[in-house]
Amino acid sequence: MDVFQSDGHKIIQGDAIIALDSYIEDNSIDLIFADPPYNIGKNFNGLRDKWDSDNEYLTWCYQWLDLCIKKLKPTGSFYVMTSTQFMPYFDIYLREKINILSRIIWSYDSSGVQAKKFYGSMYEPILFCVKDKENYTFNANDILVEAKTGSKRKLIDYRKKIPTVYSSEKVPGNVWEFPRVRYRMDEYENHPTQKPIALLDRIVKASSNSNDTILDPFSGTFTTSFVAKSLNRKSIGIEINREYAKIGLRRLNIIQELDGIQLEKEKRSFENKKLEPTLPSLFNQ
Ligand SMILES: C[S@@+](CC[C@H](N)C(=O)[O-])C[C@H]1O[C@@H](n2cnc3c(N)ncnc32)[C@H](O)[C@@H]1O
Repeated sequence: MDVFQSDGHKIIQGDAIIALDSYIEDNSIDLIFADPPYNIGKNFNGLRDKWDSDNEYLTWCYQWLDLCIKKLKPTGSFYVMTSTQFMPYFDIYLREKINILSRIIWSYDSSGVQAKKFYGSMYEPILFCVKDKENYTFNANDILVEAKTGSKRKLIDYRKKIPTVYSSEKVPGNVWEFPRVRYRMDEYENHPTQKPIALLDRIVKASSNSNDTILDPFSGTFTTSFVAKSLNRKSIGIEINREYAKIGLRRLNIIQELDGIQLEKEKRSFENKKLEPTLPSLFNQ
C-alpha cells in the first residue's frame, strides 16, 4: 500500500477494502463516489473485471458497500454505480442500511457498433443515498439546468394569483445526459471506463461544500479527485493499479516522477502525427 499526498489530496495505491478498513477513519467523509468494476469483463490494465460467479462479485461488493457507509459522516452522501444487471442487488441491499433518495440514469449516445438483435445498452445507473434524510448537503442552486417551458417556450402560469412566467431554470431530474469520454477529448486518459468531468462536477457541487472531504474507492483516472480539487474540496482516491495511480498523481499534481519515470500525459496517435508537407512548401524548397 503506497500513500501519496499534498495540499489536502491523498492517493492510496492499493486494495479498496484494505484501504477503507485501515486507512480511513469511521464517520469522517462528507461524500463518497464509488464506481467499481462492473463484473462485465473489462480489462483494467491486466486486471480482468470478471468474478467466477455473480454471488462472488456481490459478496465482494457488499463488503466495500458496508465500509463506505461506515466511513461516511452522519450528514454524508453516497453515490454508487455498477452495471445495469447488478444494480437491482445493490438497491435491495442498500435500502436496508441507508436512505436511497434518487435512482439516476446516466444516459449517453453511442456512435459505435450497435446491437442488432436486442436494444443496446445506452445508460448506466447511479444510486444517490444519504445517511440522514433530514440532514444532508444538497446545493440545488449550484447545479441548475435549463427549463425549456420558461426559457424557450416562454409559457405563463395562469394558475397563480398573479400570472407568472415559468422559471427558466430547474434542478436536474434523474435522467442525466453527458457524453462519454472519447479518445479525442482533452480530458481523455488511457483507461477503459473513465467517467466524464461533467458528471462528477454535478455530483460534487450538489453534495459537498468547500473544504469537505470526498472519497473515491475505485479512482481509475481520478476524475473525482480532479473535480474535487478544482472545486476547492479535499480528496482521497484509492486505486489498486499503479499505472492508474500515476494518472492521478499527475492529474492532481502531487508528484512529478514515480519509479524513476516522469509522469507525463501520453501523446495520442493524432497528436504524434507529423504534419504532411503541403504542395506549396515543397515547391519553396
Ligand atoms: C470503473 S473503474 C473507475 C473509473 C473512474 N471512475 C474514472 O473516472 O476513471 C474501476 C477501477 O477500480 C479499480 N479496481 C479494481 N479492483 C480494485 C480494488 N480491489 N481496489 C481498488 N481499486 C480497484 C480498477 O483498476 C479500475 O481503475
